[in-house]
Amino acid sequence: SRTVARGEDGALSVGGVDVRELAGRFGTPLYVVDEEDMRARAAAFRDSFTAAFGRHGARVDVYYASKAFLSSKVARWMRAEDLCMDVASGGELELALRGGMPASRIGLHGNNKSDAELRRALEVGVGRIIVDSFTEIETLDAIAREMGKVAPVLVRVTTGVHAGGHEYIATSHEDQKFGLSLAAGAAFEALVECHDAAGLDLRGIHTHIGSQILSLAAFQESAERMLGLRAAFRAEVGVDLPEVDLGGGYAIRYTPHGEELTPADAATGMAEAVAAAVEKVGGTWPHLSIEPGRAIAGPAGLTLYRVGVVKRVGLDEGGERQYVAVDGGMSDNMRTITYGAEYTATVASRLSTVEPVLSRVVGKHCESGDIVVRDVDLPHDVARGDLLAVPATGAYGRVMASNYNSVLRPAVVAVRDGEAELLVRRDTLEDLFSWDVAPD
Ligand code: LLP
Repeated sequence: SRTVARGEDGALSVGGVDVRELAGRFGTPLYVVDEEDMRARAAAFRDSFTAAFGRHGARVDVYYASKAFLSSKVARWMRAEDLCMDVASGGELELALRGGMPASRIGLHGNNKSDAELRRALEVGVGRIIVDSFTEIETLDAIAREMGKVAPVLVRVTTGVHAGGHEYIATSHEDQKFGLSLAAGAAFEALVECHDAAGLDLRGIHTHIGSQILSLAAFQESAERMLGLRAAFRAEVGVDLPEVDLGGGYAIRYTPHGEELTPADAATGMAEAVAAAVEKVGGTWPHLSIEPGRAIAGPAGLTLYRVGVVKRVGLDEGGERQYVAVDGGMSDNMRTITYGAEYTATVASRLSTVEPVLSRVVGKHCESGDIVVRDVDLPHDVARGDLLAVPATGAYGRVMASNYNSVLRPAVVAVRDGEAELLVRRDTLEDLFSWDVAPD
């Protein structure tokens, strides 16, 4: 995050707070969120997209994809930055509401929403429900009519744009669970069904091509296909769908050699693509929306660990590797073991000037795949008691954390202007015991 700095004695501070103080006060592992940075990233999407699309007289809403990281305070920040919010479950919906996000600014996602989730969304009056299947269209229509309501919906479209990225987070191939196929005509058919359903108010179309995507061309291609679908619907049904949501997925820099797709570049490029498509297919400009999650929360967060054990291991190909075991691991960062994600790490509690050696940061869990950072150069004097910082863990960290090996999930603390504020408290042993209901 942008407020990370080394103090005179070589220790890191974030948001003006020394990491040693944070570790002392809140314990480790600890997720640290730089409030100013996270809000600035939200504002950058809002401003870049508003400017780029505003040039054409089009409106853009930015939905923060709260699956990346959510607490009620985060909902409050996003509201203050004039963002809307994407929620993917009943739980995220309740947290967003608890944080004061108006229901009308919330979009509900999910490929398999329960009746209870759909009912609750209608009851509180969410701004839109993104429908993902024919089953859902029928179910939601019936529930809405029974409740005497009309559900505002977008249809989730699988555009077939292949944008790269890990298989588990790519969402626009035909052979995956999300959306309705553009190529096979299912998306069009779903639009007609929604248009005809008395319990549904068809507002537009939605797509999300995947996550950690660097290719602007992929976003442009997706925008073009979506506008093509909108034009086809107009040609057939005579209605210009008011809204087009182009999803999230903007790549961030996880390591010094990593690359990112900035809000400014994404906004300019996507506005150009939409302008070209509108020019080509005719009709009015749609009201656009996007759903960045990772790019708002990810770079604003880091994880602080305490080093416990350091080991040297000989490598088959010669040389050796330093294994640095920290007090967390796959329970607080699932991304390395799940997607082979890359991170970096640095000694945070002091400045070491000794020679760095090939290292691997591992956790304390009972499996060898429990790796936080696969390859990183760390000083050869790193030792028990040092604090290690792993940057860019603000997204899909705490929200994917588990209690594997009955560990206590870490706290999340927000820092700003020299102050620290707890957002999510650490689990306690009492929490563990409270889930264990039959002690005798
Ligand atoms: N909109 C929809 C409909 C989505 O499914 C997602 C992410 C987003 C927006 C936000 O994407 P983002 O801007 O954060 O890339 N656990 C994985 C990421 C899963 C993303 C799922 N959907 C990870 O740790 O990389």
